[in-house]
Amino acid sequence: MIPESFIQELLNRVDVVDIIDKRVQLKKAGANFIACCPFHQEKTPSFTVSPSKQFYHCFGCGEHGSAISFLIEYEGLSFVEAVTELANTIGLQVPNEEFSEKININENSKLEEALKIANNFYQGQLRKSPEAIAYLKSRGLSGEIAKRFSIGYAPEGWQNLEAAFKNYKDETLIKAGLIQKNEQGRYYDRFRNRIIFPIHNAKGIVIGFGGRVINPEETPKYYNSPETPLFQKSYELYGLLAARKEIRDNRYALVVEGYMDVVALAQHGIGNAVATLGTATTLFHIKKLTRYTDEIVFCFDGDNAGRTAAWRAMNNSLSALTDNVQLKFLFLPNQHDPDSFVRENSSDAFRALAKEAIPLTEYIIKYLTQDNDLVSQESKVKFLNELEPIMKQFTAKKLLLLFKKRIAQLVDLDIQEIDQIFKIKFKNEVIKNSASRNNRIPMSAIRRYCLFVILEPDIATLVDQEMFLTEKIDDQLARAIIEISVAEEKKNTASIMHLLSSRFDQEIISELQTQLASLDQTMDINKEADALRLSIRKKLSSASKKTVLDQIKQKSLQSLTEEEKNFLRNMGKG
Ligand code: CTP
Ligand code: MN
Repeated sequence: MIPESFIQELLNRVDVVDIIDKRVQLKKAGANFIACCPFHQEKTPSFTVSPSKQFYHCFGCGEHGSAISFLIEYEGLSFVEAVTELANTIGLQVPNEEFSEKININENSKLEEALKIANNFYQGQLRKSPEAIAYLKSRGLSGEIAKRFSIGYAPEGWQNLEAAFKNYKDETLIKAGLIQKNEQGRYYDRFRNRIIFPIHNAKGIVIGFGGRVINPEETPKYYNSPETPLFQKSYELYGLLAARKEIRDNRYALVVEGYMDVVALAQHGIGNAVATLGTATTLFHIKKLTRYTDEIVFCFDGDNAGRTAAWRAMNNSLSALTDNVQLKFLFLPNQHDPDSFVRENSSDAFRALAKEAIPLTEYIIKYLTQDNDLVSQESKVKFLNELEPIMKQFTAKKLLLLFKKRIAQLVDLDIQEIDQIFKIKFKNEVIKNSASRNNRIPMSAIRRYCLFVILEPDIATLVDQEMFLTEKIDDQLARAIIEISVAEEKKNTASIMHLLSSRFDQEIISELQTQLASLDQTMDINKEADALRLSIRKKLSSASKKTVLDQIKQKSLQSLTEEEKNFLRNMGKG
């Protein structure tokens, strides 16, 4: 575990421009540097690197981050490797384990550390268990693949992790979802007699586990880590770390349903698959994948459950749709999942299916017309009714136009008539128009103030901290920004973003990064910040007046206290 203080120090001393320029030719453009984005295909540069903010940001694909994340994404390094590489460039030694023990590491790093220890333990146990190895073999998996996915084994027994941790009853182990406590107050391992699939985040850190029973009589078949500050199922994809390179190389990602599917496909040389973690596909999954590719193939079992899951995935993905991504749907023959299919047939047969996957809009039509022949006027109306909510969520302009054209043909209308029926307003246009009217997307004063604090952390004061930590501000991100900026001694934009990214979800950080990158660089930050601080203070004080007033309104005149009566009298004056 590398101490957080070292990472802060590092981010303060390296120059992100140097680091990136060595790998991607940068050109100076005003205060920033630009290049064609190394993370997606483009002809005109939308990748910018800011020397003052010490981060990079692509306006095309949204990829962004610090010098560390650049090395992770671009070179495919793990977090530790990236930090070591950076430290080497400026002649710093990465502190070793003993040193870091003395340093007070924050909560998330404690969880990370616990999961890492458990993961090593489970992997060691797999090597010692002929039964677990035999199970994996029976499912066609080689030792090499087990190693690539860091697969482990949690043996039978209630307190095996006692051997791995000095303090088994440490609260951290409960928080990390490794052990549980029963009503009698006894502690026991969460995973017992199960094959363990560690789940990694994009930085290569273990954030949770999935466990599959070996004994078919035991239930449930799969058991996962609970949601923790590190692990939120709807944001994470199993296997992404291992699949990233192959997703880029193959130019598409496969999304399957199970751990075993990902691993079995990899065993057969199909390494570009990831799995959702027992949840439906979400918007966040899609956004995550579009950082690596513009084509996503969702793979579903050929049964009823598979068809239901596909329709749900379609609905969830609509708002992530752009004209730059292609979503496709692959349905396996009856009774097959990717694991059984690839084993019974071949990887070539599987690839052939993936090639024939149905594009999103075709799939929508196919699904809605499976029991609807579109012959009578009534059946056409039914079809249009079912399409309406889907069309209204479309955010891909060109695709929407073509889709409308296709639908118009199917129901014998023209595009204008379809527009009339649906009154479709293109979502992005609405946003763009209102934004151009007052020149920028309105952002709360609090958020805007926070952006300035990230750019110039020294403007945040203890007084701000008090002001922001009242319950009146329930913007957790804003609170964290102020808190971190006040607390950290050595800080710059990149180090603050780094600390935030360990506490907040990728989506939130992305949005923040976009807002930062779009801020006008020429304005006087101190002056703007002073004005905003004043306006926030005013808002807070009028908000508290309003709360008192609301409470008073609930009461009868007789029941008012002397204080409340005074409040009303003064209000009249002010
Ligand atoms: N799942 C789960 N909890 C369960 C069952 C399933 O979380 N009780 C999730 C797991 O992520 C699992 C996926 O749903 O990988 C698919 O489940 P299923 O199709 O039942 O299992 P398979 O992936 O086919 O697993 P196996 O081949 O090992 O039987
Ligand atoms: Mn299966």
